[in-house]
Amino acid sequence: MVDDQHTGERLQKVLARVGIGSRRVCEDLIEDGRVTVNGEIAELGRRVEAETDLVEVDGAPIGVRPGLIYYLLNKPAGVVTTASDPQGRPTVVGLVPAEPRVFPVGRLDLDTEGLLLLTNDGELANRITHPSHGVEKEYLAEVKGEPSRAALRRLREGVELEDGLTAPAQASLVAPTLVRLTIHEGRNRQVRRMLDAVGHPVQRLIRTKIGPITDRRLAPGAWRELDLDELRALERLVATVAKPDPTGR
Ligand code: URA
Repeated sequence: MVDDQHTGERLQKVLARVGIGSRRVCEDLIEDGRVTVNGEIAELGRRVEAETDLVEVDGAPIGVRPGLIYYLLNKPAGVVTTASDPQGRPTVVGLVPAEPRVFPVGRLDLDTEGLLLLTNDGELANRITHPSHGVEKEYLAEVKGEPSRAALRRLREGVELEDGLTAPAQASLVAPTLVRLTIHEGRNRQVRRMLDAVGHPVQRLIRTKIGPITDRRLAPGAWRELDLDELRALERLVATVAKPDPTGR
């Protein structure tokens, strides 16, 4: 069982450290043959060099570099999406553990609530925010007035904004003044501007989903780490070679 041929750290210890699960859970994953090192199924007791060996669980690379961390935060209104605010307002970074230092993936407006990822994995963060990957973000918007079917159709087909036509979106009514809108662009204040453009200014905006990531039970201001399945799903989503961005950005 014990691998004397390799130096480095025990695989189950590395997996546990990067947040895959408890040491016990990680041992089970290895025993079930779900963990590979440099493409070969790993045995319990295998040692790895966290910096150089490619460790995958169910075929998805895990961030074995020590200290990579991924938080999902439910941002409350009135909190700034930045690491430090010159005006001294509360920041999203202030709501999660201070060490290791993380940064927000993309941004939500001061008054927007809902799901925000924070990580110290710059590579994954870049891929998630890059427009070419078109990661879908779902929002719930409480709006002024009751959007008609024609207004929803305009949102779906694309709305002319000052920085150009928006890409087709998914739009539906959840209640007479509550719109569910899914977009895959990340323009500044895009949802607010789209709804303004169709005559229904936003009163309250909540992001409810980022790609495959959602969590209805995370209270405002609360955070948790992404679990392995979520991290794998995100990595899979942005693993494809970037397509050229039709908007040229
Ligand atoms: N669209 C907006 O208008 N605001 C946000 O915070 C996110 C998307």
